[in-house]
Formats: sequence, C-alpha cells, structure tokens
Amino acid sequence: MESGIWIVLEGGDGAGKSTQARHLAERLQGLGWDAILTREPGGTDLGARIRELLLHGEHVDPRAEALLYAADRAHHIANVVQPALAAGKAVIQDRFIDSSVAYQGAGRGFSPTEILSLNGWAVAGARPDLTVLLDIDADASLSRAAARGGELDRLEAAGSEFHRQVRAGFLAQAKAQTAAGANYLVLDATSSPEKLSEQIWAAVSQLLNS
Ligand code: TYD
Repeated sequence: MESGIWIVLEGGDGAGKSTQARHLAERLQGLGWDAILTREPGGTDLGARIRELLLHGEHVDPRAEALLYAADRAHHIANVVQPALAAGKAVIQDRFIDSSVAYQGAGRGFSPTEILSLNGWAVAGARPDLTVLLDIDADASLSRAAARGGELDRLEAAGSEFHRQVRAGFLAQAKAQTAAGANYLVLDATSSPEKLSEQIWAAVSQLLNS
C-alpha cells in the first residue's frame, strides 16, 4: 500500500523543471518529508545507459525510441519510484509518460492512444498524485536550451516544427487528463521562478491536505 506522494513535472526543454523540482523538494523537506528527486530518462543505472543511447547516440528509429523511453520508465518506476512511495517518501520526478505522448506521440507522429497503451503497460498503470506542466512555446524552449551552452541533445536538435508539435502534444494531453479526472496543473513557464514555485506549492499543499 502506497503512503508517499508522487509529483511529476512536465514540459518542453528549458521550461525550468529542475529548478522547480529542487524548490519543491526543499519545501517538502521543511515539512519533514523524506523527498527524493528523480528523472526520466536516466533515473537508474540501466536508465543512465539508455539515456546516453537515446540522447547522444546514432539515429534511433521512432518505434525503437518509443520503446527505449518506455523501457527506461518501466525499470525506473519498479526500482525507484514504487519502493520510495511504499516507504512513505515524497517522489519529485522530472518527466513521465506525458513526455512520451508529447515527443514520441505528437513529435514523431504516433497516436496518443498507442503511446499511452505502451507506457501504461510498462508501468502497470501507475499514475502520479499530481502532474505540473510548465508550458513553454517552441522558440523559447529552443533558445533556453541553446543558452545553456554545450551541444544540443538529439531531441533538442530536432527543429522548431518538432518542438511546436511537442508543445501541442503536452497541452492536448493536459486537457485529456484533466477531463479524465487527473490532478493536473498547467503553468506558464515564462512566469518568474518565484511565482511558479508558489503556484506549485499551492497545489501540493492542497494535495497534502486532501
Ligand atoms: P531531459 O532530461 O529533460 O533533458 P535535459 O536534462 O537535457 O534538460 O530530457 C531529455 C530529452 O528526452 C528531452 O529532450 C525530452 C526527451 N524525452 C522524450 O522524448 N520522451 C520521453 O518519454 C522523455 C522522458 C524524455
């Protein structure tokens, strides 16, 4: 029986997810929670190897790409997230299934239904208590990713039309999940980090008090 809380941050590259994840972990720790930060792809040793293949390797066929993200996720949820939740921890996770719906679905052209069914199987139906989407438009996403310096990874380098599709995929998924009753928050990633942090904290507080 799960007793922890599981919060997922989603959004395009450069949306500010890792900054918000850190703030949230600190606030939860301040309330006495044992909070862990984790991410997909790459939240396990196996996942780190899959991440390297996906982001810095040779061309990957889109079906293989979808399967590799799902494989990383299956291993991560079973070995990191579920045990932490069972131990009563707060899990703050950078990216989950909605990233696959956005990038492999909307971006690469597979239907959301296919991606959801592949990934639903991979994680045996596990769903977070709250998903926060930091919505960012494609141009801002690409310029923030470029401003970080270094080489763009394989997905970041996929071009602005791809990133427009990704954003639309995230927003459509947020709408569908909300309609299906999921606890889902969509925020404007161009707001200040302080404002975003307060908005996220309001939703998390509500979750903790429910
Ligand atoms: P991320 O770790 O957020 O990138 P970074 O650390 O460089 O900011 O994600 C890595 C890339 O993988 C990102 O471009 C989005 C992509 N991705 C998918 O295409 N599908 C997925 O299911 C996930 C989780 C990530």
